[in-house]
Amino acid sequence: MREQIENPDYKLNVLIELGKILVHEHRLDNVLMNMADFAREILSADRCSIFIHDAKRNELWTKIAHGVDEIRIPADKGIAGYAALSKDIQIVVDAYNDFRFNPEIDRVTGYFTKTVLAVPLLNSQDETIGVFQALNKKSGLFTNMDAELLLLISNNTSYALENALLYEKLRDTQTKIVDKLSSAAEFKDNETSAHTKRVGLYSALLAEGYGMRKRDIEIIKLASPMHDAGKIGISDDILKKPSKLDIQEFEDMKKHSLIGYELLYDDDSEILKAAAIIAKDHHEKYNGSGYPYGLESDEISIHGRIVAITDVFDALTSKRPYKEAWEFDKAIDFIKSNRGTHFDPILVDLFLRDIIKVKNIYNELKD
Ligand SMILES: [Fe+2]
Ligand SMILES: [Fe+2]
Repeated sequence: MREQIENPDYKLNVLIELGKILVHEHRLDNVLMNMADFAREILSADRCSIFIHDAKRNELWTKIAHGVDEIRIPADKGIAGYAALSKDIQIVVDAYNDFRFNPEIDRVTGYFTKTVLAVPLLNSQDETIGVFQALNKKSGLFTNMDAELLLLISNNTSYALENALLYEKLRDTQTKIVDKLSSAAEFKDNETSAHTKRVGLYSALLAEGYGMRKRDIEIIKLASPMHDAGKIGISDDILKKPSKLDIQEFEDMKKHSLIGYELLYDDDSEILKAAAIIAKDHHEKYNGSGYPYGLESDEISIHGRIVAITDVFDALTSKRPYKEAWEFDKAIDFIKSNRGTHFDPILVDLFLRDIIKVKNIYNELKD
């Protein structure tokens, strides 16, 4: 690597090496860790850290750091703070005799900083999103050439970081929209938001017990609260009727499952796709006596079979205008006695196996 740097084409070589890292790795933490390792090697530094700027708290925190855990520092203090604030490269040749240096971090980490090279990470709007810092060059001082190299690496780091931060924001927004969509159906139906939240948690628990992947567990947790979104399309006369529904009214009520499916289905969103399938399948029964299609056993999606249990269990243990809340044990007995008829027997067994965790959710999120 050093030979490549001393070659006149060193910048090109560095870019090629960086390209190799980025091509093979897509997870942000790994990309950043590889960048930090790469910078440490190419600069012959002892340590490198990548700080992220937390605008809300006006702090810099170490997303990646060799040899230390997360550190948080005020965004306008220390060498990294200077780089963030000035949006300019900072080279320090003797830390303890430099006015920019903040010895507090060494005191906390037990490290002894001698030389520092810090480069701001800027987004496409030229705002500081972080700082890339190298500490203690193994021999001699950080040079202008080192600064140029770190700048080159940092430009690529900024790009990866900005994309990841935007993606995170998008995920946040998506979660909020999903929550609001769930509450829209609750308004119509007199159900509480605690009901939909608990259904989400019970469903995630069952999905985990069933051995689903982490990402799929997260999806079912977000999607299952929308199981009754289709009630938006059912008239208030039926939804708010205090007495039992007649046959025609019940037929109309059943339509909420397919209305929900139509309303929620979106090919581009995993969460909405799962929510649509749950809306369609959550009233199907394992023995084929449910609706809308009378599907049986594994013709019913696993999502639908899970929410069939969690929705009924939570409805039983909740107070509704027309009924009192059932005791925990009585509701569990109901689930048990419908094992293999209404509910998937394997999922019932998993639900009972995790009964302590079920009870924790029940106690923590009581109406
Ligand atoms: Fe429903
Ligand atoms: Fe429900």
